[in-house]
Amino acid sequence: MMQKSTNVHWHEGHVSREDRESRNGNRGAILWFTGLSGSGKSTLANGVDHRLHELGVSSYVLDGDNVRHGLNGDLGFSPEDRTENIRRIGEVAKLFADAGTLALTAFISPYRDDRDRIRATTARPNDFVEIFVSCPLDVCEQRDPKGLYKKARAGEIPEFTGISAPYEEPLSPQLVVDTAENSLEECVDLVLKHLAAQGYIQLSSVAL
Ligand SMILES: Nc1ncnc2c1ncn2[C@@H]1O[C@H](COP(=O)(O)OP(=O)(O)OP(=O)(O)O)[C@@H](O)[C@H]1O
Ligand SMILES: [Mg+2]
Repeated sequence: MMQKSTNVHWHEGHVSREDRESRNGNRGAILWFTGLSGSGKSTLANGVDHRLHELGVSSYVLDGDNVRHGLNGDLGFSPEDRTENIRRIGEVAKLFADAGTLALTAFISPYRDDRDRIRATTARPNDFVEIFVSCPLDVCEQRDPKGLYKKARAGEIPEFTGISAPYEEPLSPQLVVDTAENSLEECVDLVLKHLAAQGYIQLSSVAL
């Protein structure tokens, strides 16, 4: 990205991130769900968000379609635009983490470099929790919750991930959830247990 603004200085706030985290009772962080279309990112992120909310944890979902309506409405699906899409979402998610909130992002985010760039630029090393939502392409295609695979196969959607555009699996994600082999409830539990075990949320808040 080219920095266009000059004479811009980061204004240090009076309320620290630690203050916000201790009031919220949880760490701020980014839970980055990545996987094929139809793998279950949105379903899982919203399922986890619901459970976190019930536990009193501060969380918020940033989801592909919603963000593409507003913040990233000017971007398409070319490789450059996909990279810019993910960069902006990463920056927004970092602000949520700074606010002491768990930001759950549900984007295909097919490029490894784009994801690694966010991990490399977070304020703390453990701020980026990469969750690979693993599901074989044929299962995703069978689910086809939005009818996108059907359109892609018919040649109506160019550059569709898994069909005519690549998906680069994470090499060392913090967590892998296999949505073809596990129910939604089991997948949600796996994520919550990981968050508790790693100290993002208080152990006592999750019945393990
Ligand atoms: N264990 C599971 N976890 C999540 N979703 C599951 C699971 N098992 C079956 N599903 C189903 O798989 C579909 C996943 O669709 P979803 O919209 O969440 O995918 P997505 O990864 O967000 O896709 P997109 O990238 O197109 O937004 C839903 O219909 C959901 O009910
Ligand atoms: Mg989705």
